Amino acid sequence: MTAKLIKGPEVAAAIRKQIAEELPVLKEKTGEVPGLSVILIGEDPASKAYVGNKEKTSKELGFFSEVHRLPVETTQEELLALIDRLNRDEKIHGILVQLPLPGHIDEKAVLDAIAVEKDVDGFHPINVGNLMVGDDCFIPCTPHGCMKMLEYIGFDLKGKNAVVVGRSNIVGKPVSLLLLQQHATVTICHSRTTDLGAVTREADVLVVAVGKPNMITGDMIKPGAVVIDVGINRVGDKLVGDVEFESASQVASYITPVPGGVGPMTITMLMLNTLESFKRKHGLK
Ligand code: GUN
Repeated sequence: MTAKLIKGPEVAAAIRKQIAEELPVLKEKTGEVPGLSVILIGEDPASKAYVGNKEKTSKELGFFSEVHRLPVETTQEELLALIDRLNRDEKIHGILVQLPLPGHIDEKAVLDAIAVEKDVDGFHPINVGNLMVGDDCFIPCTPHGCMKMLEYIGFDLKGKNAVVVGRSNIVGKPVSLLLLQQHATVTICHSRTTDLGAVTREADVLVVAVGKPNMITGDMIKPGAVVIDVGINRVGDKLVGDVEFESASQVASYITPVPGGVGPMTITMLMLNTLESFKRKHGLK
């Protein structure tokens, strides 16, 4: 292997340390701490694990943290009523509804109901629009984490070719906009792209977020490229990324491993967004 690893736990720990140092100062100034409310509907094991980690991290940091664990039969009206209450709750600065939701609930109606100033996921259309035009907004946590990893290795994106594989609203589209804001030349690839390898081989930075195990192989990567692998796929009893690590790490200069790459960044970015919301509320931004 020649590539250096960009280790998610290491980058995340550095950011959490900054938050932990800032918190007592903010508490002293305002008499309050940031508050995060997470809503989980149903019993999906992966969602339960994610939410448990969010609760643990926010408590460890000294945030006010609450989780509403609701049964799968919860109606859309009940969920909207809870969101409405949290929108008006002074101790809550961030609201997150864990996705996916059960089929009988309209996801868009739910995300639209979260107050824009508490939408720490950055999924509300106003936040999405503000990201598009480069105004103040909450940056969705996973793309935010990818950008922090590039910042951590001191990678200057100006004038570089960035290729994003995947066009989801949660990762592909927002990360493309963030790379563009940093003056990269950005290409977005997806399932209909013809000759994917020809495009990815031009990338100085390659971000892959498609959810297909080992889809990008070393021969599709430009020597010396920085590779950010957002995929987390279960293959047998192992977790693997969207990038085939063995071959890619022979070619890339830096690569994020799976597990231990982008995954651990996401929760820390949620904490950073909640802190940001708290500061905005108190006029400290
Ligand atoms: N489910 C998987 N990832 C996410 C995320 O980033 N936010 C929310 N709300 N749900 C998710």
